[in-house]
Amino acid sequence: MSYETLIVEARGAVGLITLNRPQALNALNSTVLKELLQAHAAFEDDDAIGAIVLTGSERAFAAGADIKEMQPLDFADVYSRDFLGGWDDVAKIRKPVIAAVSGFALGGGCELAMMCDFIIASETAKFGQPEITLGVIPGMGGSQRLTRAVGKAKAMDMVLTGRMMDAAEAERAGLVSRVVAPDRLLDEALEAAARIASLSRPSVLMAKEAVNRALETTLEEGLRFERRLFQSLFATQDQKEGMTAFIEKRKPAFKNR
Ligand code: HXC
Repeated sequence: MSYETLIVEARGAVGLITLNRPQALNALNSTVLKELLQAHAAFEDDDAIGAIVLTGSERAFAAGADIKEMQPLDFADVYSRDFLGGWDDVAKIRKPVIAAVSGFALGGGCELAMMCDFIIASETAKFGQPEITLGVIPGMGGSQRLTRAVGKAKAMDMVLTGRMMDAAEAERAGLVSRVVAPDRLLDEALEAAARIASLSRPSVLMAKEAVNRALETTLEEGLRFERRLFQSLFATQDQKEGMTAFIEKRKPAFKNR
């Protein structure tokens, strides 16, 4: 399939999606959304792919929703078609997605990075929710996912002032999992994704589901959910293989079964 706003390729068992609207700093318009959902669906269906990396350019991961597309819309337009509602589907993919962020991740760009399972940032990364400076507020999850990621104090600061956070502050705040030199960014993300893809698929999918449940439910229900998933993995061949390989001091050969 060919894409207008993305470059989509397989790197071994890793699906690599590169946002590609350089003239607009990868601003997210309706074509990007449509194509991102297509690319996700293709990788989700492809048994050879075990994890995905989503990245942008050196200058910008994405500088937000496309302001030129939004500027003429009125309330009836955006409400009637639940404008930006489709982005929720991007976060529904079951395979792990790592965001590799260099440069600007602003507004919808920051929100898209936060829809991924974790963020690896270049030292040049800048995160922000500047919607307030445009007379609106975050509309793709910024007020919710940022608050869960960094807590109320920093989320309020970012959402109310629109200021940017650099990579070091984002790492201190818990928004990103690792910060690396700019020339290491893509390799670091691809290596992490390749490692995930080499592990037993059912356990990887359940691990993602279990961590995400922590944000949705009580501790008691979350612990029960985790335990049931953990127990269910004893029905897989890969549990026997993983534990037998450890005892036999060899690498496991997982079959994703
Ligand atoms: C459309 C954008 C854009 C955007 C940049 N461009 N961001 N186009 N939507 N979000 C375009 C510029 O218009 C310009 O095109 C080109 O990309 C290069 O940008 P410059 O501004 O010339 O670059 P620079 O001076 O380096 O500044 C970089 C920047 C700035 C700080 C990132 O572009 C910026 O502030 N962008 C907007 C950031 C923002 O407010 N994002 C939130 C969007 S709202 P031309 O053709 O003019 O040269 C959002 C809402 C989500 O995401 C949901 C709530 C509604």
